[in-house]
Amino acid sequence: MPVALADSTGPTSPTHFAATFLLLSSLFYISLLTVKTKPYHLRVTTIISLCTLLSLHLFLLLNPSQFLQFHNSFMTHWLSPPGKPPGFSTWSLRVNPSSGNLHPTESYIIAPAIDSVCDSPFVAHYAPKEHALELRAKIPSGSGFFNKFFPKNSFLIGFSSIFWREAWKYGERAFRYCNHDVGHAIAAVTMAAAGLGWDVKILEGLGYKDLEKLMGLHIFPEFQIPSKPVKGKFPEIEFEHPDCVLVVFPSGSREFDVNYEKLSLLIKEFSVLDWKGKPNLLSKEHICWDIIYRTAEAVKKPLTTRDAFAVDPFYGSGIFNENCYKGFTVREVVRKRRSAVDMDEVTTMDRETFYQILLHCLPSGSGSGGKQKRQLALPFRVLSWDAEVHAALFVHRVKGLPKGLYFLVRNEDHIGELKKVMRPDFEWQKPEGCPDDLPLYELARGDCRQLAKGLSCHQDIASDGCFSLGMVAHFEPTLRNNNVWMYPRLFWETGVLGQVLYLEAHAVGISATGIGCFFDDPCASTSGVDGIKLSKSISFYRGRSSLRQADYEPTSIPRS
Ligand SMILES: Cc1cc2nc3c(=O)[nH]c(=O)nc-3n(C[C@H](O)[C@H](O)[C@H](O)COP(=O)(O)O)c2cc1C
Repeated sequence: MPVALADSTGPTSPTHFAATFLLLSSLFYISLLTVKTKPYHLRVTTIISLCTLLSLHLFLLLNPSQFLQFHNSFMTHWLSPPGKPPGFSTWSLRVNPSSGNLHPTESYIIAPAIDSVCDSPFVAHYAPKEHALELRAKIPSGSGFFNKFFPKNSFLIGFSSIFWREAWKYGERAFRYCNHDVGHAIAAVTMAAAGLGWDVKILEGLGYKDLEKLMGLHIFPEFQIPSKPVKGKFPEIEFEHPDCVLVVFPSGSREFDVNYEKLSLLIKEFSVLDWKGKPNLLSKEHICWDIIYRTAEAVKKPLTTRDAFAVDPFYGSGIFNENCYKGFTVREVVRKRRSAVDMDEVTTMDRETFYQILLHCLPSGSGSGGKQKRQLALPFRVLSWDAEVHAALFVHRVKGLPKGLYFLVRNEDHIGELKKVMRPDFEWQKPEGCPDDLPLYELARGDCRQLAKGLSCHQDIASDGCFSLGMVAHFEPTLRNNNVWMYPRLFWETGVLGQVLYLEAHAVGISATGIGCFFDDPCASTSGVDGIKLSKSISFYRGRSSLRQADYEPTSIPRS
């Protein structure tokens, strides 16, 4: 049965799933993981730069012997055009991708005293251009901030978003783009930390106000949201919206519990710290897309103490065919990851490679004995909720697999509901050769290239690679049963999954591109889910392609 956009209306049923797309396509560049005999997570031996704040000083403090080896940075390279001297026209490359390369995510570190940085615990902002930490505030040594709540040698990483960085270009879509980017940053930190023997968990109990104080973001003047979009001078629109704070702790630390109530009480005192630094202004004039700020306001999370902080046992991702990986180190994969701008419409992927990539997209990994649901594998384990995001795959060129629409169920509790709300004529057949522990289903056969391209704002990268995928979120029930503040968290989950797809693509010798631009309603009707809100979709392509900076070589790699 061919998949057709035009007649794919499906039944009108209650809408439980929102499709989201973040497209990933592929391209050339490189890399991958090392030790062939070990599963993916164990191969994460050299890391990555991480985001921001895992700054060198911390590595010196916590892991001195590994510092030179691993060292990290959010920013990986400076590039110049060929034949031009460095400095002529340069731009930076980052570990994490970002919608429109606008990088709205800011990073903070909250760490214990470090000899070479600060004689007391401190809060610092990461300045990517300088690859430096900017000290924001000292935390009094006697406050017991770290030893009361976290294992020895732990520290915190916080993320905030400047909506304006995306909004000047993308208008109201900035809200979702910023949150996708947060997910990519979360995954980058988690993978980097794992490579150094650390584990990471989101401090989910904290509320908006706690995060604001922890990162010193309460210093921004309050922004009065207008009732409609307006143009003018609104410097206060450039405020930083606190997203989340992660605790990074030595892997295998004995179990610890975070008392959010007490932690929040201590954080309240951060408002009287001597906060330093004033962010520079980005623009002289602004356009306020009011809906961004009203949405952000509506989904602000309060302090929640109901769910205890828990670190789940670790499970590695399933192994099906390790030979598909090119033998690059994790560090190479991470630092050389780039987005493709074009696909060759020719390259074909093996079925085994396709299955292997998808095994690494599963939240529970392999060997837990349970269904896919809990987030136990890297990097998904950083998130504190059960998987709520699935993937609808458009297979264009995978050797041994018929072209068509497939579905990866990442939370197997949802399968009955999915079958009910999606088109009744979908097949839900396990494809040939599919590993038993991979909940992948063939829905319908047919050439989906034009469909995928049409859904993705007519971008060729959606049709010209090996496959693309849209992410489908368990939307309304999650918001209803948990709370509306799960809304940005669903985007974070898609970003984490997107980061895995980027790394996997490079690991098998190709590349990927996130695509944040898609048409909501056609995406919904393709799956047959009606009346839903689509939040984003992701597609993932593979193909030999011309590369964004294909002919350019890094002029310097200052921090490797
Ligand atoms: C959430 C998200 C959405 C994106 N959307 C698109 C898109 O619609 N089209 C596209 O060509 N690239 C898209 N990209 C890729 C970015 O343009 C790319 O990450 C950025 O230019 C930085 O380049 P790099 O990934 O090579 O570091 C997206 C990336 C992310 C993370």
